Amino acid sequence: MAAKLLGVVLAGGQGSRLSPVTRVVNKHLLPVYDRPMVVFPITTLVEAGIDEVVIVTNAGDIDAFQQVLGDGTALGLKRLTFAKQQRAGGIADALLSAEQHANNRPVAVVLGDNILGASIASPTRQFQADPKGALLLLKEVEDVRGLGVVRFDMPSVAGAALPTVQEIVEKPAVPPSNHAVIGVYFYGPDVFDVCRKTTPSARGELEITAVNNAYIARGAARFGVVDGWWVDAGTFEGLHRAAVHVAKDRA
Ligand code: DAU
Repeated sequence: MAAKLLGVVLAGGQGSRLSPVTRVVNKHLLPVYDRPMVVFPITTLVEAGIDEVVIVTNAGDIDAFQQVLGDGTALGLKRLTFAKQQRAGGIADALLSAEQHANNRPVAVVLGDNILGASIASPTRQFQADPKGALLLLKEVEDVRGLGVVRFDMPSVAGAALPTVQEIVEKPAVPPSNHAVIGVYFYGPDVFDVCRKTTPSARGELEITAVNNAYIARGAARFGVVDGWWVDAGTFEGLHRAAVHVAKDRA
């Protein structure tokens, strides 16, 4: 039987790139066209068949999320729970806050500001069939600035099958390719140990890229490419672009 994955939506952090709008409202409750942002990552999971989700967020924001989402059944969830992140200590730190909820199960993690026009049903099935290590999703984009970017073991050729991934470089000054690592990550139950072993970066955060590089280094990372549009809505430009995509899809 396919493994049951726990969906984890990471919705903490400070949303500083959307300040002053995020001074009193959690970024993931801002509208993306006609819905609060957090609805999109939840729907991405639900449409892939994942019906149990934990939302990780800041302690003071949980009430607001509950008012917006209720018990989650209207979105197709069987179970919706919340976990608190004590401080904005990075994406891997936020993921650690979901450890007890995972209770030794594999997880499908979606960053709360990642909005996808495409389904992740196929990689979800692929990971459920072998729920170990990491399965990471890539997207070729024109502007990879501000993202995790893949370094291949040979120059990537447009349209060719993916060469081997050497490492991921977070927000590189000189991008090693045009393949960004999007904020959808599948991990086996060992991910929490991997997060704990990660050393904080120069900005004092536990980086998900360090976690992913640990899987790559031991040959335990697999990769897929997503079709369709994908937007990181964590900037004003991204938030606007995501709304335009959603509006077009609704028309
Ligand atoms: O969107 C994809 C990119 O997301 C990847 O390409 C990068 O490798 C990855 O590091 C990440 O980069 P960002 O700079 O966009 O991450 P950001 O700080 O915006 O955090 C993304 C989400 O993670 C955010 O919407 C909420 C959650 N988060 C973040 C932090 C720092 C937390 O829940 N807690 C946190 O402490």
